[in-house]
Amino acid sequence: MLRKPFLSMTLAASLTFGATVAFAQQPVEAKSNPSVQAFDNKIVKKINVDNIYNMIGLLSETPRVSGTIEEANTAQYIKDQLEGFGLKTEVQEFQFESWRPATDTSLSVNGQVLDYKPRTMTFTPSGDVTAPLAYAGLGTVAEAASAGLSGKIALIQRGSISFAEKVVNAYNNGAVGVIIYNNQGGDLNGTLGNAESGVLPAVGITLQQGNDLLAQLQQGEVTVNLKVVGAANEVVTSQNVIATKPATQKDTGDIIIISSHHDSVPLAPGANDNASGVAVTVEMARIFEDMPTDTELRFITFGSEEVGLVGSDYYARNLSAEEKARIKGVFNLDMVGSKDAGDLVMYTSDGQKNTVTDLTASAAARLSVLPAYGGETRSDHHSFWLQGIPAALYIHSPLEPWYHTPQDTLDKISKEKLLDVAQIVGAAVYQAARPDTPALQRSKVAPREIEYEDQVPSL
Ligand code: BES
Ligand code: ZN
Repeated sequence: MLRKPFLSMTLAASLTFGATVAFAQQPVEAKSNPSVQAFDNKIVKKINVDNIYNMIGLLSETPRVSGTIEEANTAQYIKDQLEGFGLKTEVQEFQFESWRPATDTSLSVNGQVLDYKPRTMTFTPSGDVTAPLAYAGLGTVAEAASAGLSGKIALIQRGSISFAEKVVNAYNNGAVGVIIYNNQGGDLNGTLGNAESGVLPAVGITLQQGNDLLAQLQQGEVTVNLKVVGAANEVVTSQNVIATKPATQKDTGDIIIISSHHDSVPLAPGANDNASGVAVTVEMARIFEDMPTDTELRFITFGSEEVGLVGSDYYARNLSAEEKARIKGVFNLDMVGSKDAGDLVMYTSDGQKNTVTDLTASAAARLSVLPAYGGETRSDHHSFWLQGIPAALYIHSPLEPWYHTPQDTLDKISKEKLLDVAQIVGAAVYQAARPDTPALQRSKVAPREIEYEDQVPSL
């Protein structure tokens, strides 16, 4: 076990990635209480870090992108491993709408290709339309109705209503494509907000370019070719893998979840993000499988995390109220083994401590590793927090430079880091799950709905 100095307040405060604030915990003296550590040893001595490392090697042979056959194969492989330990295991399939970005866009006027670099609106479909241009002002219901848009490509200015409303209004009046131009300096990267509004090929251009097109239109008819290649709104199928270890004695009705995501971003082998979390989750399943517990343990790997926490959101939303109330903590492992990242950190969605961080702090004090904690919503713990369930993310901070790159490979993985995380999570979970501790008190963390901010403007 690594002995680490306690994180200073200033370091902990610099550990957040978002707008939230990190807090350092009060330094806790490492207690050498042999009887308590003997309990930890019952579980931590079972960890075999080579199992973890080897599984990362296997999983990171290929990217595991949301909705692909590689992701589905990964889920099946994880299921087989968990089943091999004798656990009841299921693959939970789910579907969702996803937008595939365009590979190319172009605009031509009267047969001349313009060097405009039009930006696709997120959720635009692809298309190749040639039609006269028609100006429709801000594209309001009234303006779209009186602009003679039938069979035309609509030229619309940004402002006052959303891009989606402009596109839908143009569509309702028979337009075949939409060009929206900016009302301020710079490129216009926008979103239609959802697939339902992706009814016409729609691109954004600059204010200058829009004014040029408008000036040409005032001289006479302008025929435009608008091309959007490769974009599509499609229904994607993905999977969560869920293994359950029931309580063996004095069942308290409590449930503790250890989770991670098994998908990766395109082109990234995702050894650290997040084969590392999956491999630790699977090793936890192996070592807990035959342990007496008064708490049900669930080992879950989620699909489609990288495209918006989709798998965990599906799982957490579909829990019954009764199940939600029984889940006392979610230990979510995401990026837990990079040589080139900083120290272990726990993040909760609101930056407040909860049952999971408390259990960890207590295990950490015994093991002399003290992670800081802070606020971060960019992983699957957040889906549980939105349902009022105490959850925390385990990650190292600062991040390694290989994050979301093709260089996120096995050679960047540290066995020491993996072992540290496995020991601390194992000890914390065992403290709550073993039969000789009283049932946990329900966490006091207040659930609060929060909205994701759009990555790109919709207005
Ligand atoms: N492993 C990252 C999460 C992460 C990165 C958490 C850095 C904290 C700091 C995760 O797989 C990821 O990349 N998440 C997405 C966000 C999600 C809501 C789509 C991201 O950060 O782009
Ligand atoms: Zn991740």
